[in-house]
Amino acid sequence: MKTSVRAYAPASVANAVSGFDVLGFALEEPGDIVICKPSDIPGIKILPIAGAFSSLPHDPKLNTAGVAVQAFLNSKNISLGMELEIIKGVPIVGGMGSSASSAVAAVVAVNELFDLQLAPHELLPFVLESERVATGVPHADNAAPSLLGGFTLIHSLDPLDVVSLATPAAFTCALVHPHMHIKTRDAREILPKTIPMATATRQMGHIAGFVAGLYQEDFDLISRSFVDELAEPYRGQLIPGYAKVKAAALEQGAIGCGISGSGPSMFALCPDVDTANRAGKAMERVFLGENLESDLFISAISQQGARILE
Ligand code: HSE
Repeated sequence: MKTSVRAYAPASVANAVSGFDVLGFALEEPGDIVICKPSDIPGIKILPIAGAFSSLPHDPKLNTAGVAVQAFLNSKNISLGMELEIIKGVPIVGGMGSSASSAVAAVVAVNELFDLQLAPHELLPFVLESERVATGVPHADNAAPSLLGGFTLIHSLDPLDVVSLATPAAFTCALVHPHMHIKTRDAREILPKTIPMATATRQMGHIAGFVAGLYQEDFDLISRSFVDELAEPYRGQLIPGYAKVKAAALEQGAIGCGISGSGPSMFALCPDVDTANRAGKAMERVFLGENLESDLFISAISQQGARILE
């Protein structure tokens, strides 16, 4: 067995606007690094957390990396102790899949450490266990793209059935993370429990149009399908300047713009890097007008997802 393994897992944009809880994509960066080492002391120990966003629980029952690794070890009847060192690059409580990315990196590292050779989609259930602890609901639209890369469709949670979709190489994402927090649990709480049939029908059209657009590389169809009638009408109200941020990105040529995951981050999907730079800066200016500082991430869509770092 190796003495130490380092793995990287990228941030992700859940929902991707048209696919509430069923669609997401992975960014190339930012991401989290987890280094795992076997230990003679039983149980999981979370070492001091490094990186820009380190205020996370060290209790392995509350830390998503700890929960996912424990679930993984239990499933394999491995009782060896484990130390996890987390270098946190993904902003927390920001709508960028932060709870998933460290859990994904951790299980990918443990898989390599014990040479268990599970395929990425086989690691997903352990990460979902940690998402359940973090948010109360085991949604997979952050964990799956972070593990697999690209655009990912959650065809079914039970039984778990995840599909990697076509991901046009030119896509560049501008993601703006305003300095405020929205907990996923709270952002789910405000959503209606039922929706009218007509709304459901329209939303099915939007996601089908979006997926068809990915395969046809039809950016105009993707743009027309960039609509969320399920969550954004409610969640948009939690984000200062939401409509103006969206308008600013579209004015700069973004294909579409919306809330990343449960927010407050917003993203613009763009046809190239220049457009993403312009859209991102315009989005930041709007947030600044709302007295919100922000971080801007310009990233390609990760085609690879989580990986071992040599
Ligand atoms: N699909 C989830 C939600 C993602 O929108 O609540 C949370 O990051």
